[in-house]
Amino acid sequence: MIKICGTGSALPKKRVTNDDLAQIMDTSDEWISSRTGIRARHLAVEETTTGLSVAAARQALAEAGIQPEELDLIIAATLSADHVLPTLACEVQAAIGAARAVAFDLHAACSGFLFALNTAAVYLRGGVYKNALIIGAETLSKMLDWTDRGTCVLFGDGAGAAVLRELPDETAGGFKAFVQYSDGTRGGVLSCGDRPLVNPYATHEAEHRYVEMDGQAVYRFAVGTVPRVITEAVERAGLTLSDIDHFVLHQANSRIIQSVAKRLGQPVDKFPMNLQECGNISAASIPILLDSLNKNGMIRKNEHIVLAGFGAGLTWGAAVIQW
Ligand code: UT7
Repeated sequence: MIKICGTGSALPKKRVTNDDLAQIMDTSDEWISSRTGIRARHLAVEETTTGLSVAAARQALAEAGIQPEELDLIIAATLSADHVLPTLACEVQAAIGAARAVAFDLHAACSGFLFALNTAAVYLRGGVYKNALIIGAETLSKMLDWTDRGTCVLFGDGAGAAVLRELPDETAGGFKAFVQYSDGTRGGVLSCGDRPLVNPYATHEAEHRYVEMDGQAVYRFAVGTVPRVITEAVERAGLTLSDIDHFVLHQANSRIIQSVAKRLGQPVDKFPMNLQECGNISAASIPILLDSLNKNGMIRKNEHIVLAGFGAGLTWGAAVIQW
């Protein structure tokens, strides 16, 4: 059985409310909260993507009751690592002393944690590895255009982690099914980060350095695809939607989550949210929310949970786990 045995999370100390943002740009708490549900976010001032990841990872390992040296695999999902090289996963490996683990990053934007978890589950199910650490971590604030009020108010910084283990206990539970998709033809609706091309034969400046988004197109994509992919994953797990106790969705916007709940015919109180306090933390949003549910005793043993992510690429997917 493949099971999440520990979770962790870390947010930067600096909490920035919508009113704080209204002091530095032409926006308002009313506009941001009514359109997105977001009221505050945490932004990195002294923290780094690696430092936040290490803090989250240590918590997850402690709860799982395993030592870093027992880890076989570390996958870090991020689009905002501190460096291009070495990878975030390798930096975490060094910091926690997980000498035996193979470590690499996986980049699938806001679906990153989900895709990393699914990837680890396949390794574990195939008997290749036994103990995996999955991280979703971002300091997106460095990738935002702070003069573009249409995007910069939406995002936050933070990290979440989970330890996934292959355990001999076959009685119940564990990782049941997943479904994932990509559509690169629609990638232009959410994009970021041209890199300059500078070599002895060419020099092209980077024109497009920050997150740019067609918000309404992303909104339509999310409310169209997420209910379908959740339904497919639940069917693949041999369950029905009413068997699911918690739908842990990527925390982009409360209106998207409410619309998904309505389209699935499920009560919105099965859809926990932390975006009010965190904003959209891309790959970190699902593991941070999962950790807060776990730490607050909101998930009981054997309950069924759907994790669902969607974002740039475009990418989207869902997984079904039994706690
Ligand atoms: O991980 C996936 C991440 N992406 C998403 O989740 C995005 C999904 N999309 C959305 O959530 C919504 O499209 C937004 C919240 C991003 C935008 O809401 P909208 O209702 O689609 O607004 P809009 O972009 O059409 O802008 C409406 C108005 C514009 O003013 P005019 O042209 O009507 O006068 C904007 O200039 O709101 C203005 N506006 C703002 N006003 C105050 C845009 N940003 C702000 C702001 N404060 N921060």
